[in-house]
Amino acid sequence: MMDEEILQLLRESPSVFLSGEEISRRLKVSRTAVWKRIAHLRTLGYEIEASTRLGYRLIQSPDLLTPSEIKPILKTKWMGKTMHHFHTLDSTNSKAYQLALNGAEEGEVVIAEFQEKGSGRLGRQWFSPPLLNLYLSVILRPKIPPHRASLITLMAAVATADVIKKLSGLLPLIKWPNDILLRDRKVAGLLNEIHSETDQIHFVILGIGVNLNMEEKMFPEEIRAIATSLRMETGQMISRKAFLQSLLSELEKWYAIFLKQGSTVILKAWRDWAQIEGRRVEVTSFGETLVGMAVDVDSDGALILETEDGKRKRVVAGDIEYKR
Ligand code: BTN
Repeated sequence: MMDEEILQLLRESPSVFLSGEEISRRLKVSRTAVWKRIAHLRTLGYEIEASTRLGYRLIQSPDLLTPSEIKPILKTKWMGKTMHHFHTLDSTNSKAYQLALNGAEEGEVVIAEFQEKGSGRLGRQWFSPPLLNLYLSVILRPKIPPHRASLITLMAAVATADVIKKLSGLLPLIKWPNDILLRDRKVAGLLNEIHSETDQIHFVILGIGVNLNMEEKMFPEEIRAIATSLRMETGQMISRKAFLQSLLSELEKWYAIFLKQGSTVILKAWRDWAQIEGRRVEVTSFGETLVGMAVDVDSDGALILETEDGKRKRVVAGDIEYKR
C-alpha cells in the first residue's frame, strides 16, 4: 500500500525531486520507512534517482501489472476497476473463485506476476514463470443458465484473439474450444470455472493466460514444440501493460455484445477466428476418441462433428486435434 502511495507522489512531480522529508510528512511515516520502501521499489525494477540534498525522482517504471501502473492507462467503464494484484499466487483462478464466493463483484480482476500452480484445462498445468507473461482472472456474474456458460469462453477467446492481432499484427487461430494458436503452436489458453445451481449461474471465473515475452528455451522441454509466445513470433518484446489494458477493453466490449445481442454475433466472430468448418479432427471427450469432420459449433458453443459413419455428434467438452 505504501509503495503505491510513494509511487503516486513521485509520479505527480516527474521533473522535480521530492525530498524524503516531504514524502514522510505527506504519508505520516518515518524517513527510514520511506527509505526502506524506496529500496524495495528499486528491487521491483523502479529506477529512482536519489540525491542527498534534493530527494527522490522517478526515472523509469518496470513493466509491472500493479494497479498503480494499470489504472492510469485503463480505458474500461467497469471491468478491472477493482484490481487484486499479487506478485505470487498459486493460481489467479483459485484466488478469484475465493473472492467471488466472498461476494466480489462483477468485473473485479485478479492478476499475478507469477503463478506457482497455474492450472490449465482438464487437470493440466499452465507454465507461469514470473514477470514475462499475463495471468489474469476476471469475475463475471451473468444472469444466464449454466448450459450457456461455454459462450462466455468463446467470447473471451474472440477478445483475446482480437488483442493479439491488434498488438502484434499476426492472425491467430482459435482451436475449439478455446486454445489460441500462432503457427500451430499455443500462445494463449483459457480456463473458465463456473459456480452455479441447476438453472442459474452464481459467477464465472474467466481465466486467461497469454505467453507474451517467453523465449523458446524458457519453456519446459515437454511443451517446447507445441508452445509459443508473441515475442517468439514477432521478434519483439510486448508490453504486458499495453496487452492487459487492451484485453480488459476488448473483454468489456464483447461481454456487453454477448449480454445485449446473445450468441449470434459472438459465434460469427468465433467462426471467423476458428475456421473450423470442414476440418478433419480427432476429438477426445470424457475418455472417448472420435474422428470426423467438424461441421460447426452450435448456439451453446458445443462442437458438431460428423463421424465417418455419417452420424452427427454433439461434443460439449474435450480436446481436438486437426488431422490432414
Ligand atoms: C488451458 O489452455 O489449458 C487453459 C490455461 C489457462 C491459464 C490461465 S493463467 C490465468 C488463470 N489462472 C490459472 O491458474 N489458469 C488460468
